[in-house]
Amino acid sequence: MTSESLAGWLRCPACSRTLQALSTLVLGCGEGHRFDVNKRGYVSLLNSTSKVIGDSAAMLDARTQVLASGVYSPIVDALIELARPSNARPRVLDAGCGTGYYLHRLLTAVGGQGLAMDLSPAAVVRAVRSQVPAAGRADGYNAGLVDGLVADTWRPLPIRDGVADIVLNVFAPRNIAEFHRVLAADGTVLVVVPTAGHLAELRVSDALSGGGRMLDVPADKAGHLAETVAPHFALDRQQNVTFTMRLDDATADQLVAMGPSAHHAPARHARADAATFRNVTASVDILRLRRREV
Ligand SMILES: C[S@@+](CC[C@H](N)C(=O)[O-])C[C@H]1O[C@@H](n2cnc3c(N)ncnc32)[C@H](O)[C@@H]1O
Repeated sequence: MTSESLAGWLRCPACSRTLQALSTLVLGCGEGHRFDVNKRGYVSLLNSTSKVIGDSAAMLDARTQVLASGVYSPIVDALIELARPSNARPRVLDAGCGTGYYLHRLLTAVGGQGLAMDLSPAAVVRAVRSQVPAAGRADGYNAGLVDGLVADTWRPLPIRDGVADIVLNVFAPRNIAEFHRVLAADGTVLVVVPTAGHLAELRVSDALSGGGRMLDVPADKAGHLAETVAPHFALDRQQNVTFTMRLDDATADQLVAMGPSAHHAPARHARADAATFRNVTASVDILRLRRREV
């Protein structure tokens, strides 16, 4: 990451002019607005009046452990296949990047460079670090691959027009008009949404034990999404990915703790006695949306 590569993605949140690197740790626009780049490789362009909160460190820890266990590999494998027809070395914006797991896996498979964006600074810090061991680097840090941005998806994005080839949006909020603006002419959005059957067994056991930790997924979320985006995007491909995960108690608990419900109720802790295993369904729809000229 350099402030030049970061600036290449960005526009000023105050006046919408493009940002330039004024030094290694300062970005600025022609109107005199200035923004400090964090030494860890990201800039915060968050409107300070924003009341929404991103994922906490505890939720990110749970997510890191679940994803590192590989239980969601079929989802990332399918995403990579759907991204392959894009440009060689695409520029990928990950909106709601979390720990950056999907972005790094995608860039490692297809090449290119990324902008990891999230409301949570703790998430962006993790996402700008590579989680894929980089050839020749003992620390696994793949400098130069991913820049970081703290920003709110529901606000106008401080990102230049037409700068991305792919917007990645995995289990995260969307801003369809802004995704359309920041994408190049034939750019695509890759969206992952859960189906109503996702983690169904965990929802049942949560409800039986008092409930409140897991939010329901509406029926046909993907179909509804394809309809709402139609003015901006055509549905190019839709793929369902459903599989059974064999989870121990601790991983099952972390799966609950890493999700949106964790904002609403405290995580429980797995029992200390011998782990029991259970089968849990993972079920998501992946949509590849192609940008329309509007
Ligand atoms: C369920 S997590 C998914 C993270 C990641 N895409 C993954 O699947 O591993 C949702 C992410 O969206 C972020 N988020 C929530 N609201 C947001 C907003 N308004 N703008 C940007 N990010 C947001 C959260 O901080 C969190 O990292």
